[in-house]
Amino acid sequence: MCGIVGYVGNRSVVDILLDGLEQLEYRGYDSSGIAVMCSDDIKVYKAVGKLQNLREELRGHESEFTASKMGIGHIRWATHGAPTVLNAHPHTCTCGNLVIVHNGIIENYKELREKLSAQGCVFRSQTDTETVAHLVARKYAECKDLTQAVRLASEEIEGAYALCVMHNDCKNKLVITKRNAPLLIGIGEGEYFAASDVPAIIKHTKKAIYLSDNQIASLTPDSMELFSKEGEKIEPKVEILPWEPVALSKMGYKHFMLKEIHEQPDVIRNILVGRLHTPDENIILNEVKLNKETLKNLNRIQIIACGTSLHAAMIGKYIIESFCGIAVDVEASSEYIYRKTVTDEHTLVIGVSQSGETADTLTAIKQSKARGSHILIITNRPDSAMAREADSLIPVNAGIEVSVAATKSYIAQLMAFYLLALYMSEIKDSIAASTLTSLKAELMILPQKIEQILARKDEIQAVARYYANTKDFIYIARGINFPTALEGALKLKEISYINATGYPAGELKHGPIAMLDETMPVLSILMNGSVYEKLLSNSEEAKARNARMIALTNSKDEKLEDLFEHIIRVPDVQELFSPIISIIPLQLLAYYIAEFLGKDVDQPRNLAKSVTVE
Ligand code: F6R
Repeated sequence: MCGIVGYVGNRSVVDILLDGLEQLEYRGYDSSGIAVMCSDDIKVYKAVGKLQNLREELRGHESEFTASKMGIGHIRWATHGAPTVLNAHPHTCTCGNLVIVHNGIIENYKELREKLSAQGCVFRSQTDTETVAHLVARKYAECKDLTQAVRLASEEIEGAYALCVMHNDCKNKLVITKRNAPLLIGIGEGEYFAASDVPAIIKHTKKAIYLSDNQIASLTPDSMELFSKEGEKIEPKVEILPWEPVALSKMGYKHFMLKEIHEQPDVIRNILVGRLHTPDENIILNEVKLNKETLKNLNRIQIIACGTSLHAAMIGKYIIESFCGIAVDVEASSEYIYRKTVTDEHTLVIGVSQSGETADTLTAIKQSKARGSHILIITNRPDSAMAREADSLIPVNAGIEVSVAATKSYIAQLMAFYLLALYMSEIKDSIAASTLTSLKAELMILPQKIEQILARKDEIQAVARYYANTKDFIYIARGINFPTALEGALKLKEISYINATGYPAGELKHGPIAMLDETMPVLSILMNGSVYEKLLSNSEEAKARNARMIALTNSKDEKLEDLFEHIIRVPDVQELFSPIISIIPLQLLAYYIAEFLGKDVDQPRNLAKSVTVE
């Protein structure tokens, strides 16, 4: 995680850096800092916590930097060392002549630190990054060329990094490089920008270069040179970013999360545009580049993802297996990458990621690609690193998701799975035509059903108030809604810090039931369908242990009134589509509990929106 920005040009640099960092705050908010080239010396300013604290720190210092035209900035998600001012970036070498900002993890930092300390470098922080500042400074002392120094240092660094470097000797030169972390250059008139992500630069330019791993760029106001890791000059590939600057607004909602929950009906409508017109027509999914014969004979799919995207993937497995009869494995990317996985050219590998930058998923995708698998990426960022690895790419078009807790991107990912599964089932002829038509018809009316739930959000708010002071929360479900239980619990724990867990209800009696007593809320996701009666029995078992029972249901079953203290009712829906409906009240429940508790809903502690470290 972490976000970095850099600027060299003819404008006053500080506002450009702060603006850029504000756009990257989704990448971390443990601390922030900037370094600016002033006429006499480089000046560094840092603050712990949100960017606002840095803005306050800078107040009164304006005269020191108004004339500065070059600088680097950083927003931190702490990996090595607590979020303190000393550990905040930018980091400097011993004499303070060289400054650096870094996104990533330097894996061999301990060895480097020992070596550099023995050579006389004085370390002031506990970070891995500071080793790079000392290392580059050492190389610079030998070769007196900043670009060359960065190149030589990168040969000794193991791990992932995006770096921006400045040196007091080079008053208008910024050197940047990257490996396994995102970094792009924005090209302006007499100015260059560097940033971890597009939003930091899009206000200034649409012309950009995505740096490839190990490339090094040297930027001055009127020149840009790009080098390979061997030091050879390379021709940059300039792209026009398909982005418009967007003013991110809460549109009257108290938090981005609530706004994004309300956007979900439109997110579904958007993803259907151009892909599903009427229930009688076939699904159009030109993005899938596997030929029809291969799809027809496909017998194994592997889906890889993390967090909320992993829950979408788990539901994707149910959908694909039910619609297409193809065996699907789902795995957390972080588990996938460090074992001997059986993946080959006959496996379709699907990577699911809102950001398209999650380090574990990206590594997993690269590994599978190297083994010859066809890579299909489902992402909200068609310009991301993962999208660049894709053989087939399904952009989910959910729009920018600002809240760290994912909501609308999850719904969009589920929709991508429904479309993909229906598309494949049409090719495989695995579902009767009349059933297919009714499934497509139902898919098209899901937005109205979500709107009905949103219209009654006050009822969910009331339930939220009732349970807001609980310490623990259990969600139970079976079948296709088991991942919904996991996702509901994840939403609650990440924004309210309540210890919430999702269980397959049948597993309750194999251990977790021991935790139940009159203090424990148990929310049962009781949707009509094949496992309804089974889940009802499991709910009875929980009630018999005096748990505080809540139902989320589309059933009209009268006996529920006796069993449950609170009932959250949702519109009826076919079982296979129920995850789209059942997650909405759970997002709202988590939101209202966190809001009632006064938590920082959009930027919960310890989290970041884009997880670019393993
Ligand atoms: C939870 C959440 C995270 C992400 C996870 C993967 O609300 O947002 O669990 O789902 O970090 O991120 P992406 O989808 O960007 O790969």
